[in-house]
Amino acid sequence: MKSLIITIDGPAASGKGTIARYIKKEFDFFHIDSGLLYRKIAKIILDKKINIKNTKEINILIKNIGDIKLSNSKLLRSPVVSKVSSEIARIKKIRNLVNMNQKKLVRNNKEKFRGIVIDGRDIGSVVFKDAEIKLYIDTNKKIRVKRRFKELIDRGERTIYSSVLKNIKLRDEKDKKRKNSPLTIPKGGIIIDNSCKLNQTKKTIQKIINQKLINRIK
Ligand code: CDP
Repeated sequence: MKSLIITIDGPAASGKGTIARYIKKEFDFFHIDSGLLYRKIAKIILDKKINIKNTKEINILIKNIGDIKLSNSKLLRSPVVSKVSSEIARIKKIRNLVNMNQKKLVRNNKEKFRGIVIDGRDIGSVVFKDAEIKLYIDTNKKIRVKRRFKELIDRGERTIYSSVLKNIKLRDEKDKKRKNSPLTIPKGGIIIDNSCKLNQTKKTIQKIINQKLINRIK
């Protein structure tokens, strides 16, 4: 049977990653965190001091980058990497590169897993429009800021609440208003309000996936 593709889109700190990791564990699916791919490119740009406004420098980076691995690290979640990743996410060539990597990861894993879950901003609306389940995570902004602030503090980052609020507001703006693949509810998307307790969201999602898996067997 074809691998079940689930897309999860939503704004910064809405809980997409937590939900995707839950699906991965609960159903033994393969997980692609597309934000991580943008973060990896942003980290290289910062380390190499590449000027993102210089097309020539960006072209050289794209030409030499090769396959981007999904390995995570604390350094990739810092506020500065978050900021730069949403800046470079506006560049069409960078989006094409990330999309190519995602499609390759799906091709390489679709025979090995009965399902693949991919989270990001444009996954259900642009990259995998034909996905069988498209989730859109909509969480109250105040709650998103509180959760991200706690996450950063727990990780030992030195930050203040107002700067987390500013960073999230700015990224929301950039993600929703950019010309290339703006954050939007995908056609046929199911809106999940994740402002509640995580267990409640998990139950809702479990029901949706189980129903789909049952319908596929019928
Ligand atoms: O975890 P969080 O929601 O804070 O961010 P992320 O999912 O790791 O994504 C980092 C940045 O990459 C976002 O601010 C987006 O601007 C960008 N991104 C995107 O444009 N498209 C995607 N499919 C995934 C991420």
